[in-house]
Amino acid sequence: MEYVIEMLNIRKEFPGIVANNNINLQVKKGEIHALLGENGAGKSTLMNVLFGLYQPEKGEIKVNGKAVNITNPNIANDLGIGMVHQHFMLIDKFTVTENIILGKEITSGGKIDMKKAENEVREISKRYGLSVDPQAKISDISVGMQQRVEILKTLYRGAEILIFDEPTAVLTPQEINELIQIMKTLIKEGKSIILITHKLKEIMEVCDQVTVIRKGEGIGTLNVKDTNPNELASLMVGREVTFKTTKKEANPKDKVLEINDLLVKDSRGIDAVKHLNLEIRQGEIVGIAGVDGNGQTELIEAITGLRKTAGGSIKLNGKEIGNLVTRKVTEAGVGHIPQDRHKHGLVLDFSIGENMVLQTYYQKPYSKYGVMNDKEIFVKAKSLIKEFDVRTPSEYTLARSLSGGNQQKAIIGREVDRNPDLLIAAQPTRGLDVGAIEFIHKRLIDQRDQGKAVLLLSFELEEIMNVSDRIAVIYEGEIIAIVDPKETTEQELGLLMAGSIEKKAGGMN
Ligand SMILES: Nc1ncnc2c1ncn2[C@@H]1O[C@H](COP(=O)(O)OP(=O)(O)OP(=O)(O)O)[C@@H](O)[C@H]1O
Ligand SMILES: [Mg+2]
Repeated sequence: MEYVIEMLNIRKEFPGIVANNNINLQVKKGEIHALLGENGAGKSTLMNVLFGLYQPEKGEIKVNGKAVNITNPNIANDLGIGMVHQHFMLIDKFTVTENIILGKEITSGGKIDMKKAENEVREISKRYGLSVDPQAKISDISVGMQQRVEILKTLYRGAEILIFDEPTAVLTPQEINELIQIMKTLIKEGKSIILITHKLKEIMEVCDQVTVIRKGEGIGTLNVKDTNPNELASLMVGREVTFKTTKKEANPKDKVLEINDLLVKDSRGIDAVKHLNLEIRQGEIVGIAGVDGNGQTELIEAITGLRKTAGGSIKLNGKEIGNLVTRKVTEAGVGHIPQDRHKHGLVLDFSIGENMVLQTYYQKPYSKYGVMNDKEIFVKAKSLIKEFDVRTPSEYTLARSLSGGNQQKAIIGREVDRNPDLLIAAQPTRGLDVGAIEFIHKRLIDQRDQGKAVLLLSFELEEIMNVSDRIAVIYEGEIIAIVDPKETTEQELGLLMAGSIEKKAGGMN
């Protein structure tokens, strides 16, 4: 059998950690090969080695049977290897076309021929079904389109082997379906794909083979046809995973959050949240279900002080918090696990320990008389790292060098530990492995059982259905229905979210 890629006995170390130990990965031409493993198992590292971003300490890489030495990404490109990273690497102020041709500009008479470049971009985008607007600025387009730009960038450079590092973690269900179609088209055109994903359903649906790694060690490669989600989960985690969250009946008490007639405008000044009413009580989890772009982001930004409201009120424990600055909202008792962990969740160039006290560093015991007390900060950090299973060499490691999922676990740990009266969890399990998801769901339910109010925002209907006590469906900036997860189906929820069926927003109290 001919392999397009062979990575043999790869070893890659970082200070204090062996990220890859003797790992083997063999990818056949024309297949989609999944790479599966827990958060921090070493998947991104292995792919960064293949893409020339890291040099392995040991091992051999062959491309189309020939041994190669990939010392930088340009060499990877020349060998036909392209990578779409876990965190995108686009330049916000540049257009789609400028980003795609960056470093490969076509010039005539010393000038960049933008028209020609745009036409080329149009051509490849049509061929692979990757719809983009060549003239749009990156900062103005959706995450899904940004990802298509990243894919086009690799194709523009002639990639034959594409590495996708968790491409679906940042996408909505609709965008995931589109990406799956795109991957199928790429395979038809003779490309090969290495796909990193935590979603076992996606592996079962589109992949041919799957290689499992655990804690930096290769566990083996299986034919997808011959395996199932349960087996894959236990191979990667090293124990059985239940998938289903168990919880007792909710016992809601006093109102914690009370939103009345709320108006919020989006960044373009258009009404995003329109006369919205919602309340959450102590001891319940309310899930927000909706198609992306129906006001959920603006709603959360308004509650957390990241966005001004244009009318109405937001009360926490009876006190108005609308239009307070974020620090005041936090002090009033709101915790926030943000959707975008890099923008609002972490300071990447701070240590993971410092990140654990981002909102509390100026309070006792972390500061005294205006002087920070490192000892207290790092003792706290150490215990959170242990409790939330954040895999890091130490509490002094920079947040930037943690794996994506472990960055996420650190944020969750910090927010849950502050024990806020209202915990807002926006896509809390994005990028987490199945074991970590199980753990986080339990923690959200624990918060509820301790009498806290939890607001859960997720695009994963399964998560909304499993974790919430009540589901509020948001459509065009309004809550159009409140449903009981025990009395609804994913289908019905889907129709409500699409605005296709109406249900009176009853049961608000
Ligand atoms: N640049 C770096 N410097 C130091 N340590 C690193 C660096 N990159 C990764 N690591 C460490 O190597 C290990 C593997 O990380 P990697 O990012 O490969 O995990 P992953 O399998 O992609 O996880 P996730 O599913 O969370 O993205 C982790 O312990 C991580 O902290
Ligand atoms: Mg990763």
